[in-house]
Amino acid sequence: MATAPRTRTGVRTAVVWDYLRRALDDLAGGGAVRVLDAGGGSGGFAVPLAQLGHDVTVVDPSPDSLAALERRAAETGTSERIRAMQGDAAGLPALVPAGSFDLVLCHSVLEVVDDPGEALAAITQSLRSSGITSVLAANRSAAVLGRVAAGRLTEARRLLTGTDGTTGPGDPLQRRFTLDELQPLLAAAGLRVQTVHGVRVFADTVPPALLDGDPQAADDLLALERDAAERADYLAIATQLHLLARRD
Ligand SMILES: C[S@@+](CC[C@H](N)C(=O)[O-])C[C@H]1O[C@@H](n2cnc3c(N)ncnc32)[C@H](O)[C@@H]1O
Repeated sequence: MATAPRTRTGVRTAVVWDYLRRALDDLAGGGAVRVLDAGGGSGGFAVPLAQLGHDVTVVDPSPDSLAALERRAAETGTSERIRAMQGDAAGLPALVPAGSFDLVLCHSVLEVVDDPGEALAAITQSLRSSGITSVLAANRSAAVLGRVAAGRLTEARRLLTGTDGTTGPGDPLQRRFTLDELQPLLAAAGLRVQTVHGVRVFADTVPPALLDGDPQAADDLLALERDAAERADYLAIATQLHLLARRD
């Protein structure tokens, strides 16, 4: 289902789901929401959303991911509520009707697209008036800290001082963000930021063995994540920044 907080993966996404559930209630008051998952991959969010009764369109350039999505949809009995389309975020206007979605997810995608501003403008266009977008993006400062903790100091310095928030040519991401970069990007695309919080503030730091076979530790970690999520002083160490923004 939507959350499995007793695993490390479950803890990593549980806070995102907390905010998504609130957005879904706000948008439909319990009814079905029309969701577009831009760069939705193999359906990590799309399938649980469909299981909750929402109608989800996934647009992703990767045929392999879309095939995996279709398999997961079949296995979970959600094929009727999931539509898979091949394409990229910037190409949304040619793929889906303008203003046709209540909620658009853009999770871990702005880091890999050619032009984040263009992708966000396309997302805005696909949203109905007052629709909501959920943007999850890699946080540059947490990546610096992670490299330092791993003893990879050259990479840490490149991440800290470079213009793009990457470790250099071998980095799988094209960029990471600070909150000061993300907020104006959303504003320029016509999206009014409503909530900002940190995701995985502690979940990537806790010793892996702590969670093995100890559901109470996972519960305690999730409680910590929830308590820290909206504290501005912990945003800098959150692996991801999660913003909910409304179309003007
Ligand atoms: C890290 S995965 C995230 C998948 C999913 N959003 C999630 O959070 O589980 C990044 C996804 O972005 C997709 N992607 C890469 N370039 C893209 C583009 N230009 N437009 C849209 N999606 C893209 C990839 O195929 C991949 O599925």
